[in-house]
Amino acid sequence: MTGSVLIIGASRGIGLRFAETYAADGWEVHATTRTPDNPGALGDIAGDVSIYELEVCNLGQIAALGDVFEGRGLDVLIHSAGVLRGVSRDEMRAINADAPLDVVDALMPAVLRGKDRKIVILTSQMGARNGGRTPSADYGASKCLLNDRFRDLEPHWRTQGVRAVVFHPGWVATDMGGAGASVSVDESVSGMRQVIDGLELRDSGRFLTWKGTEHPW
Ligand SMILES: NC(=O)c1ccc[n+]([C@@H]2O[C@H](COP(=O)([O-])OP(=O)(O)OC[C@H]3O[C@@H](n4cnc5c(N)ncnc54)[C@H](OP(=O)(O)O)[C@@H]3O)[C@@H](O)[C@H]2O)c1
Repeated sequence: MTGSVLIIGASRGIGLRFAETYAADGWEVHATTRTPDNPGALGDIAGDVSIYELEVCNLGQIAALGDVFEGRGLDVLIHSAGVLRGVSRDEMRAINADAPLDVVDALMPAVLRGKDRKIVILTSQMGARNGGRTPSADYGASKCLLNDRFRDLEPHWRTQGVRAVVFHPGWVATDMGGAGASVSVDESVSGMRQVIDGLELRDSGRFLTWKGTEHPW
C-alpha cells in the first residue's frame, strides 16, 4: 500500500528517517526543511521526493505549503519538527505547541481529499501530566499544551473521517535525544510506521508510544 505523505521537519532525526522509509516503500514523499538549498541527507534520498522550505513559525510559508496541495489529496501528514533547547520559552511554545496546529489547519483540506486521512504529531512523554501536575519546564509545558490542544480539536477532525494521533517516539538517538538514548531512530520510526499503517478511525485521539501502546495523558 502506498500513497502520499508530507513530513514536516525532515532535515534530520526522526523526520528524516520517516522520509527515507516512505520513499523506500515507493510513496510519494513531500518533505520540509528550513534549508532547501542545503538539504543534506534529505537531498540524497532516492525515489519520489519533493522538498519544500518551511520554518514552522512562518505563517506565510505554512500558507504557501497549503497552496502546493490545492486541489490535491494528501494521505498522511506527519509533523515531526520540534525543539528541546536553545530557544526562549515563547519560541519553544511557538515551535512545539502552535506550529503543529497551524500546519494541520493549512493542510486539512488536502488531508480531507486524501484516501487515508491520517494525521500524526510528535509529542513527548515529557508533556504528560500522568494524572499529576502540569509540567513546568519549558519543553514539557510546550508539549503539554500541544497535547491539550490536540485533545480539544481532534474530535472535530474525527467527525470528518480523520484519524489523528500523537506519539511519544521513545528516547531516541537523534541530535535531540543524544547518543546515549535507549531507542534507535530505526526502531522508533519502524514502530510508528507500523502503527500509522494500521490506524483506524477508532484509534483517533490516542496518545501512543512508538510501540503502539497507550501513553497516559
Ligand atoms: N529524540 C527524542 O528522544 C524525542 C523524545 C520525545 C519526543 N521527541 C519529539 O520528536 C520530534 C522529532 O525529534 P528529533 O529527535 O528528530 O529531533 P532533532 O533530531 O533535533 O530534529 C529536529 C527537527 O525539527 C526541525 N525543526 C526544529 N525547529 C524548527 C523550526 N522552527 N522550523 C522548522 N523545523 C524545525 C529541525 O530542523 P533543522 O535541521 O532546520 O534544525 C529538525 O529537522 C520532535 O517534535 C521532538 O520533540 C523526540
